[in-house]
Amino acid sequence: MTKMLITGGAGFIGSNFVHYTLKNRPEYEITVIDKLTYAGNPDNLQSVLESIEFVTGDICDQKLMDELVSQTDIVVHFAAESHNDNSLRDPWPFIQTNLVGTATILEAVRKHDKRLHHISTDEVYGDLELDDSNKFTESTPYNASSPYSSTKAGSDLLVKAWVRSFGIKATLSNCSNNYGPYQHIEKFIPRQVTNILSDIQPKLYGTGEQVRDWIHVDDHNSAVHAIIDNGRLGELYLIGANGEQNNKYIVEMILELMGKDSSDYEHVNDRPGHDMRYAIDASKLRTELGWEPKYTNLREGLQATIQWYTDNTDWWQAEKAKVEASYAEKGQ
Ligand code: NAD
Ligand code: DAU
Repeated sequence: MTKMLITGGAGFIGSNFVHYTLKNRPEYEITVIDKLTYAGNPDNLQSVLESIEFVTGDICDQKLMDELVSQTDIVVHFAAESHNDNSLRDPWPFIQTNLVGTATILEAVRKHDKRLHHISTDEVYGDLELDDSNKFTESTPYNASSPYSSTKAGSDLLVKAWVRSFGIKATLSNCSNNYGPYQHIEKFIPRQVTNILSDIQPKLYGTGEQVRDWIHVDDHNSAVHAIIDNGRLGELYLIGANGEQNNKYIVEMILELMGKDSSDYEHVNDRPGHDMRYAIDASKLRTELGWEPKYTNLREGLQATIQWYTDNTDWWQAEKAKVEASYAEKGQ
């Protein structure tokens, strides 16, 4: 058995990664470390708690990380403050977790000579114009826009520096926008689905022309495994599935799939500094590692995601009023 330490495993992508790994890669013995912030939900792992070890703790805790890293073979680092809007309200938790937390893991990995895979985002590259024929590649210069994305960019640079200066055995991946089950209802797609289920009009920031490159969370996670298996140490791989759509199109599709009038949404205040477009060129991942996405039909993927939120109202309902009250303060 290979021991795998998963940080942030009670969050959206991390918990899906735990489920994916247990189902598809039984050779891994999993420990999850998660602080259980507002975004971490132990219910996400309820059905598999007997098959993993779960540690409640902070990745900034040097003693704890030293101990956990010493006992593992590989660290897969998902833990982060992940929401742009929150980073505009209060950047400090982002600076602490995304930068100090990553540095703490790097020092433990260096001391115990362990393999690390660092999870990051396409937002480190800033944004593209709507009519730009280019997509992000691994050689696009870093140009992050928000406190969230700049701390993720900083965390990537820390990993790269530890690779170059100390020779740690690490890989990095930068993925586009994920969707699927267990995503916090502060995020775009679950917010609109749960709005409709709560008889609240969907909320579109600004004009809604902004483009995101959507990928199903299981495709993200199969790519992470491909990189862990065969990625070259020290390398960064972009992950994306050619899922570019603007926000207006997504809201209208959600309304239609939920049997509503597709124009029944409202335009609200825009996000300050709102990135216009993300788009991933995943050629390196596809050609070097032979990875292919499975969930290429966004409509079907959205339909399944809507069904998950419809079937799991207990998972999100208690949080809904609080999330909407916080958005309402900013006219969003
Ligand atoms: P999330 O907010 O749903 O989950 C983050 C998890 O990290 C939560 O369980 C939280 O409790 C935990 N956490 C936060 N601070 C911690 C700390 N100090 N110590 C230990 N645990 C802590 O986030 P997500 O959307 O699942 O994103 C996971 C990772 O993937 C992040 O690194 C994010 O930058 C990256 N990413 C996300 C997307 C996306 O579309 N959501 C796309 C690309 C990359
Ligand atoms: O690109 C990868 C990134 O995708 C990840 O690094 C982040 O962790 C993840 O949160 C996501 O960032 P975005 O800011 O793109 O995602 P969000 O779901 O917050 O918003 C998606 C788009 O929808 C964005 O253009 C803002 C818009 N939006 C969002 C909300 C919450 C709306 O129009 N209305 C909304 O209510």
